[in-house]
Amino acid sequence: MCGIVGYVGHSDGRVNAGHNALDVVLEGLRRLEYRGYDSAGIAVVADGTISSRKKSGKLSNLITELDTRPLPESLTGIGHTRWATHGGPTDQNAHPHLSDGGKLALIHNGIIENFAELKLELQGKGVTFESETDTEVAAALLGDIYRNQLGGDVTNGGLTRAMQLACQRLEGAFTLLAVHADQPDVVVAARRNSPLVVGLGDGENFLGSDVSGFIDYTRRAVELGQDQIVTITADSVEITDFYGAPAEGKEYKVDWDPASAEKGGFPSFMEKEIHDQPDAVRQTLLGRSDIHGKLTLDELRVDPELLKHVNKIIVLACGTSAYAGQVAKYAIEHWCRIPTEVELSHEFRYRDPIVDENTLIVSISQSGETMDTLMAVRYAKEQGAKTVSICNTNGSTIPRESDAVLYTHAGPEIAVASTKAFLAQITAAYLLGLYLAQLRGNKFQGEIKDILADLGKIPAKVQHILDNEAQIKELGRSMADAKSVLFLGRHVGFPVAMEGALKLKELAYIHAEGFAAGELKHGPIALIEEGQPVFVVVPSPRGRDSLHAKVVSNIQEVRARGARTIVIAEEGDEAVKAYAEHVFYIPETPTLLAPLLATVPLQIFALALASAKGYDVDQPRNLAKSVTVE
Ligand code: M6R
Repeated sequence: MCGIVGYVGHSDGRVNAGHNALDVVLEGLRRLEYRGYDSAGIAVVADGTISSRKKSGKLSNLITELDTRPLPESLTGIGHTRWATHGGPTDQNAHPHLSDGGKLALIHNGIIENFAELKLELQGKGVTFESETDTEVAAALLGDIYRNQLGGDVTNGGLTRAMQLACQRLEGAFTLLAVHADQPDVVVAARRNSPLVVGLGDGENFLGSDVSGFIDYTRRAVELGQDQIVTITADSVEITDFYGAPAEGKEYKVDWDPASAEKGGFPSFMEKEIHDQPDAVRQTLLGRSDIHGKLTLDELRVDPELLKHVNKIIVLACGTSAYAGQVAKYAIEHWCRIPTEVELSHEFRYRDPIVDENTLIVSISQSGETMDTLMAVRYAKEQGAKTVSICNTNGSTIPRESDAVLYTHAGPEIAVASTKAFLAQITAAYLLGLYLAQLRGNKFQGEIKDILADLGKIPAKVQHILDNEAQIKELGRSMADAKSVLFLGRHVGFPVAMEGALKLKELAYIHAEGFAAGELKHGPIALIEEGQPVFVVVPSPRGRDSLHAKVVSNIQEVRARGARTIVIAEEGDEAVKAYAEHVFYIPETPTLLAPLLATVPLQIFALALASAKGYDVDQPRNLAKSVTVE
């Protein structure tokens, strides 16, 4: 939630030095806008003063404002895109917030939990507030400390010292970035439970919520730890803790290309990312097994002996990632015979869960920053569990705080609605399941090799679906007026149904619900009336025949009550034709791998329907890509 960028450049003519801060910050905000798009703002330090502009709505509104009221050229700036928490998305509530008589500007991601008491204290000192935000309170606190506690004296530690003292008083989750007119070549930042990375340039340095904030300028990044303050100038990066003790960050190289975070000729990031899926699965499988089909998950640095003794797995995740976990549960239990629970992260620690040193926690998160999941992982660690993170974002907080990480290699996912991350998460979770089966001897090596070979065929099969997307797109467009769409599935098709419904809810803002097909008759069938569209994810007629027959019965039950049935079935399944108004075929694949295919038409359907309604599929209303508040 909220995208944050900071920049300090140099004017001495060095290579890459001396970009205009406004350009760098705006480019960063453009790339980070997926994190929040209720309002945007920017502040630069030039000629001994702070100049700022902010505007409610998308970044384009701020750009229009900047065209009308340009900012001066500068080498130091900060910028923010907001996902509103305290106070609505108005110009006034947009960041930056100013203090110290307009000499200090501050932006913030997160929630300051003790803002109310701090506000009262500051009001008692005569400070007045213009917005409803907790951020303005942080700005005022920082300004008050700088001016009144440190005497406004830069030789007294200046903005860095003021930030340390301010952070000692703040509770909650926050990334803060501040600039001060007295120190025109410095940006000071702080982080607690909220993301922040440093970008290292040549004669310039950067800050961003994630690396996309500066990927156009450098691939060298530094991870910051919990409760750290960083002060950047054009030539230096200094890190301390909140009490001023020197600290170190961990440098790493960003391994993706800026071009992979562009639309690549597609009308939206979401459409591009749906089309990235063959590659997302391929990359996630790459290099993880040898020619004998032996899994070599070297990065999984958990003692194999510990993994052998795991007697329970709990998957922690939210949203689409939780549906990936639900799919994985079927495979992991089947392959490893380890009881596996899937729990929404935000519910987990409030129910006194049974977790001990023989429990393996598998968190799944595209962003690696989802606060609910982070908190659940921390709780599980405290109880002695081993934690493995399945994550798409290198260097993010959840993998950093986990015992081990299995990265998905889906590349940057920009559209708020998750697509390629979902397929990559299932793939990675399957690799983990197979690895456990290999380690514990639940499966013969040959069996593992066969499953890996089937997984290896998935990218081409997804590509086949994409090459034949016209029919499902057409259906999506034709259903733009639908008021409600239901999705049914059984076994691994059940989480697929829920994911199909989630895509439609978040993109098209219509009622959509995913049900276990067998549950329908226990209540939800009352929703069916004449013309109600119902998608049904039908399992393969091969293998588990009974499951196929049961789902066909479920189709008949809803049709008998007037439903308009749309079926996703395996190629060659002629039997379903008699019960469906529309059938979309997916290539043959083993039952457990079918979600990697069956999800794709549902993504395309939601995309087409929402686009036909004229909605922004990359930035749906009320949402943000990384949910960094609880
Ligand atoms: O970054 P994460 O995978 O932890 O995010 C979890 C959910 O917030 C995310 O999957 C969300 O449900 C998406 N908007 C779904 O499209």
